[in-house]
Amino acid sequence: MTRSLGRLKQLPRVDLAHVPTPIDELKNLCQHVGGIKLFVKRDDCTGLAFGGNKVRQLEFYLGEAQAQSADTVLITGAVQSNFVRLAAAAACKLGMKCCIQLEDRVADVDSVYKNSGNVLLDRLFGAKLYYYDKGEDEAGADRRIREIAGELEEKGRRTYVIPLAPGHPPLGALGYVLCAQELLQQMNGANLDFAETVTASGSGHTHAGLLFGLKALGSDMKVTGICVRRDADAQQQRIESRCHEIAQLLGITNPVARSDINLVDAFLAPGYGMSNPAAMEAIELSAHLEGLLVDPTYTAKSMAGFIAIARQHKADSKRAMLFMHTGGQPAIFGYESKLTRYLLNPDEIAY
Ligand SMILES: Cc1ncc(COP(=O)(O)O)c(C=O)c1O
Repeated sequence: MTRSLGRLKQLPRVDLAHVPTPIDELKNLCQHVGGIKLFVKRDDCTGLAFGGNKVRQLEFYLGEAQAQSADTVLITGAVQSNFVRLAAAAACKLGMKCCIQLEDRVADVDSVYKNSGNVLLDRLFGAKLYYYDKGEDEAGADRRIREIAGELEEKGRRTYVIPLAPGHPPLGALGYVLCAQELLQQMNGANLDFAETVTASGSGHTHAGLLFGLKALGSDMKVTGICVRRDADAQQQRIESRCHEIAQLLGITNPVARSDINLVDAFLAPGYGMSNPAAMEAIELSAHLEGLLVDPTYTAKSMAGFIAIARQHKADSKRAMLFMHTGGQPAIFGYESKLTRYLLNPDEIAY
């Protein structure tokens, strides 16, 4: 057991997040599922521009950008990406320019999706928007954003690209290694013991960082990733390689075994950014029972997974489970038409 986070404190980082984020009990949801104690870590409350998990991740990317004296940050993501909205906000705060490439990843969307929610905020932060219409193509999207960076460099700008596809050091995951440390301190301080935490698993930075940090610090808390982007087999490989890369970045032995990686892809269909009945139920239950907002793309699916796991464990009232709320609320407004149709007539919506 290493019980050390190696070089973590020496790596460049800027302070962006309001931490520690609170841990709240979900008493009504607990009663609803039948007994097991449920809690939420409010990483949707990380402070910057409506918050979310990406604030912790940006601390390391933008730390590196500043160490390289970059004046312009470039990032690519889905049209309703929370990551790009937060990169734009952070760039404003740090006095940098931001260029965003929006990828057409989700079929069958309307003009509200294309302009409201996160896109409205991207524009409000003054980001320059570019569009990538080839759909799901991580490597291609990364290539195009690097071309744009090259064009800006020729005009004298000092650019920093936040990459999307694998093949780059997973700096963002370091934010969740730190979060694991914060969580263990909070649990100690409040005498809490979580048997399991559930998080959305997309790029895998949140999932891998949290799992790595918990294992490195000697915790045996189970971390379950709910797939929101690709199926469990593909995501397993991603999390595994991310953990190896985190170990390299920190200069410590990888404490994560293949068998530590738990993934559930039952809530992914019909695909990234598209909803299903369990996700819609999770949006409604969280709101009605806890006044808690989850977004259609990420946290509705992870909440649906959390509820399903809690239902399986309902007889075990000594266990406690933690939902990692990774944010995403501005996207609710991007999905206004679908959500309104569902709320007005839940039985008639086509998924
Ligand atoms: C709100 C929200 N939750 C979860 C995720 C997934 O996190 P990760 O990419 O670290 O797997 C994202 C990714 O953009 C997100 O915006």
